[in-house]
Amino acid sequence: MRILTVGGGGREHAAVEALYRSGAEIYSVMKNANPGIMRRAKVYKLVDERQIDDICEFAIEHDVGWAFIGPEAPLEIGLVDALENIGVKCAAPTKAAARIETSKAFMRNIMSRYNIAGNLSFAAFKTANETEKYLMTLKTEIVVKPTGLTGGKGVKVQGEHLNCHEETMAYVREVLSGKGGEEGVIIEEKLVGEEFTQMIFVDGKRTVPMPLVQDHKRAYEGDIGPNTGGMGSYSDADHLLPFVPEEERNKALGILRSIVDALNEEGCPYHGPMYGQFMLTKDGPKLIEINARFGDPEAMNVLPILASDFFAIIKEMATGKLKEDAVRFDNLATVCKYVVPVGYGTESESGHEIFVDEERIRECGAEIFYANVSEKDGKLYTGASRSVGIVGIGETIEEAEQVCEAALTFVEGESICVRHDIGKRDVIQKKIDRLKNLLS
Ligand code: AMP
Ligand code: GLY
Repeated sequence: MRILTVGGGGREHAAVEALYRSGAEIYSVMKNANPGIMRRAKVYKLVDERQIDDICEFAIEHDVGWAFIGPEAPLEIGLVDALENIGVKCAAPTKAAARIETSKAFMRNIMSRYNIAGNLSFAAFKTANETEKYLMTLKTEIVVKPTGLTGGKGVKVQGEHLNCHEETMAYVREVLSGKGGEEGVIIEEKLVGEEFTQMIFVDGKRTVPMPLVQDHKRAYEGDIGPNTGGMGSYSDADHLLPFVPEEERNKALGILRSIVDALNEEGCPYHGPMYGQFMLTKDGPKLIEINARFGDPEAMNVLPILASDFFAIIKEMATGKLKEDAVRFDNLATVCKYVVPVGYGTESESGHEIFVDEERIRECGAEIFYANVSEKDGKLYTGASRSVGIVGIGETIEEAEQVCEAALTFVEGESICVRHDIGKRDVIQKKIDRLKNLLS
């Protein structure tokens, strides 16, 4: 059975490996020559993931019946609508349903209109004057976000990135002058707590949860620095997190299920993986954002321990036939650390050669997922985004972290760096203690 995969990052490589394990025949489009995807694909084509016509042509040429779409950019411009029109069934949302990610204002308004728990105070503006007037009325700290897509990098937090009113207004003006597209800027209440990711499979109506994951968005160790797409992530063997009890997890799942129901009511049912990013606060889980796809790196945590047939799940999501009790994940912990180019998060140094000793990495018991690298004449070069994800797997987070670190010694290059603190025992203990203090 043939499937089209769209995207050339670490998330897509992890999805392609899971599809390959399911016996799918893979046809891939991506903009970079990702060697992990290239080797699993029967046919691949290097094409920008927003070239809808080229992608549809490729799907017709190779007579593919199904599609998996990794990144958000093609969802925003209606790739799913176009593929469904030519008879390709997609485990990904239509342009209308993808608005839960592509328009933060749409997502927050849905939550308000349907009275969904976990919302926070926010307001969206199109001019600096209106924004400033609103800011003057607030007594609590805020977060500034462009309304549209920014690859996770456009969010600035008061007290961290923004330290006075002038800095806040300067950033508001920067966003309004282009970063947020036409829609403008969102001012949100700043949440205090610990972040976690809950992803679910959705078939239009039914949902199946995946293990919880914690990503690390800040560029530097100690969770400081600019926001990035995510520097690395971990998950635990019981599919919860050391600081998230089952009761709080269930509240997060309830929020996501209400969003799925609301999208049905709105006439745009959601198919595909859905990603909820939450902050566990003293008032329970609050929603930071929804993504209309797998998280990256989070997909690299959950897909390697998916014990069920991924291609079957894709087909069930696309056709409304998800079996709620049939999806199994192994009870193993995972730690993923991304090797990124120096400067990632601000200005990346790209185009450097990177050396990956796959055999030694596998001997350590780790998985390797190629991301924004390109193969040329047998050599591998970094792009501006994240380069290679290394995933350690073990009985405990500690064991998985050690496997990951051992494997990372076999990735070398001149201009690369890694957040080594991700998944370390003392770092996680600090998070548990901090949350305990907050909740007491
Ligand atoms: P996003 O791109 O919306 O996922 O945001 C990137 C990062 O900014 C998140 O992972 C949080 O660390 C931070 N952030 C976003 N929104 C908020 C908020 N309302 N309160 C506190 N931190 C936030
Ligand atoms: N890990 C965050 C994202 O995929 O947007």
